[in-house]
Amino acid sequence: MGKKLRIGMVGLGRLGKRHAENLALRVSDAAVVAACSIVPEELEWAKKGLGVGSLYTDYGKMIAEAGLDAVFIASSSSAHAAQIIQGLEQGLHVFCEKPMGVSVDECLAVEKAVALHPGRVFMVGFVRRFDPSYRYAKQRIAEGAIGTPFLVRSQTVDLDEYAPFQVKFVPTSGGIFLDMNVHDIDLARWYLGDEVASVYAIGGSYVHPEFDTVGDADNTCALLKFESGKMAVLSASRTAFHGHDTHTEITGSKGTIKIGMTPAKNRVEIFDAGGARVECVKDFYERFAEGFLAEAREFVECALTGRAPGVEARDGTKATEVGFALGKSFKEGTVIRL
Ligand code: NAI
Repeated sequence: MGKKLRIGMVGLGRLGKRHAENLALRVSDAAVVAACSIVPEELEWAKKGLGVGSLYTDYGKMIAEAGLDAVFIASSSSAHAAQIIQGLEQGLHVFCEKPMGVSVDECLAVEKAVALHPGRVFMVGFVRRFDPSYRYAKQRIAEGAIGTPFLVRSQTVDLDEYAPFQVKFVPTSGGIFLDMNVHDIDLARWYLGDEVASVYAIGGSYVHPEFDTVGDADNTCALLKFESGKMAVLSASRTAFHGHDTHTEITGSKGTIKIGMTPAKNRVEIFDAGGARVECVKDFYERFAEGFLAEAREFVECALTGRAPGVEARDGTKATEVGFALGKSFKEGTVIRL
């Protein structure tokens, strides 16, 4: 058996628990040897559920004391950039959930730290790049299946039942554009192979006025113009009643690729007195479980072999830059040029 990557997990909330389970139980070359959370019950969960031996409420202490090779960051978005930089300075490989930072300055500081530690692997968690269907679409586009892509239409849609939780989440998440559309922005850049030149965003709190009070929205639409003139149309919603409905469409000079347009739970179709229907995936994790596992395996393999992951700090900065510009456009009602 080869050497296992000794990982410290920070953040054991909604997503961090899933990452910790994947790393501890499903990634054979990884060992979760330490965990950090500011919520004591979550540390108890890591100890009892996964047998994690070293538990911390202080991140700095964990990375200094726990004998780690790597840190896996799934803390609140507002904590990401500082934790990435501390991890790299401690000589660790670093995986971080999206968004890489909640401001462009934070992201540029991360890029600087990554450049100063070329021997350490850094990866930002744009999970959709690791989903089998999104990957296959990328491969077919590279093979010329739709000619030259010029338009991406992509949406991220969550169930309405999570909205009360999301209102509380806004002060640390960066708001709807950075929290939700950051994935769609990354996909548009990835599929179009181009950088965003200008953006325009609209939206509002159509169902939950509480989002207004924290300067956010529950439904938004955005137009992105790329440097070469290519286009993207992105939307986000926190108020769906049918399920988690993330889908993406890429149009090129010779065709269109559509990914996951119906958010079906599986291939079962029910025909009954109500008509014909499919059941939907409920949340992001149910939709992207394979992608989350694949990205964890990619990070561990890269850290153990020194191979560079396909998603870089620059991708994290660009996605935050565009997400931030969308938020500014939404608030100011104007086109923002990057
Ligand atoms: P959550 O609020 O459920 O959990 C946050 C966790 O971070 C908690 O364990 C909390 O104790 C810990 N934490 C916060 N600040 C900390 C600090 N300074 N030091 C140590 N621990 C700290 O949040 P959730 O939903 O699990 O999201 C976590 C991150 O994952 C966010 O950045 C979010 O954007 C990202 N995320 C990514 C998704 C994706 O599709 N890739 C989906 C959902 C979340």
